[in-house]
Amino acid sequence: MDGNGRWAQRQGKPRSKGHQAGSDALRRAVEAIMEHGIPYLTVYAFSSENWNRPTVEVKQLLDLFMKALTRDIRELDEHGVRVCFIGDRDAFNRPLRDGMRRAERRTAGNSKLRLNVAVNYGGRADVTRAARQLAERVQRGELETAQIDQQVFSQELFMSDIPEPDLLIRTGGEQRLSNFLLWQLAYTELYFSDVLWPDFSAEHVNAALSDFANRERRFGGLGQVQNA
Ligand code: IPE
Ligand code: MG
Repeated sequence: MDGNGRWAQRQGKPRSKGHQAGSDALRRAVEAIMEHGIPYLTVYAFSSENWNRPTVEVKQLLDLFMKALTRDIRELDEHGVRVCFIGDRDAFNRPLRDGMRRAERRTAGNSKLRLNVAVNYGGRADVTRAARQLAERVQRGELETAQIDQQVFSQELFMSDIPEPDLLIRTGGEQRLSNFLLWQLAYTELYFSDVLWPDFSAEHVNAALSDFANRERRFGGLGQVQNA
């Protein structure tokens, strides 16, 4: 979800207004995704590198996050959304950590949409954490190093219980992954949009999905090509 700051700047508003508009855009996107019956949505809300922003902006983002945890969770719960957080939570203050845990508990039984919110998340940190957990299992004598294959490895990553993403949408014109789900995106279709995140609407979601529908996914094989 990129482009909040530029969106605000273009209107002569402070960046915080862009983030506010961005959280409204997220609510609309969740609605649109649910209308398509898509069962999983993972959003990059706060990266492990976002701490490098000015203290005031970090605080505004976390305040917005806290507000969402109290205000939006009820609505998400009523709509059958299960909310999960991925990333290193230890860096957050107590109220935020408690808020995340409460939100997860409250929505744990929901199954219409699984909404994963990446906070203080980094793809490399995800992989490194998995390696550390495996090393600890080996150290405890639960696992032989020779048993570590891609399947065993991926079980230690965040979201190991759900399928890898089919489609990645990045808004705001930048064409890079910025340390999002590095392992999990190996065969994901990438879609880049110049639209700034606060302007991203249901129509833009639909456009991304129809673009995806026309992609031919071969996963390294030959797909539809016969006798090649
Ligand atoms: C993305 O918008 C929001 C978060 C990182 C939380 P930006 O804040 O990166 O917006 P730009 O890229 O400066 O326009
Ligand atoms: Mg940005």
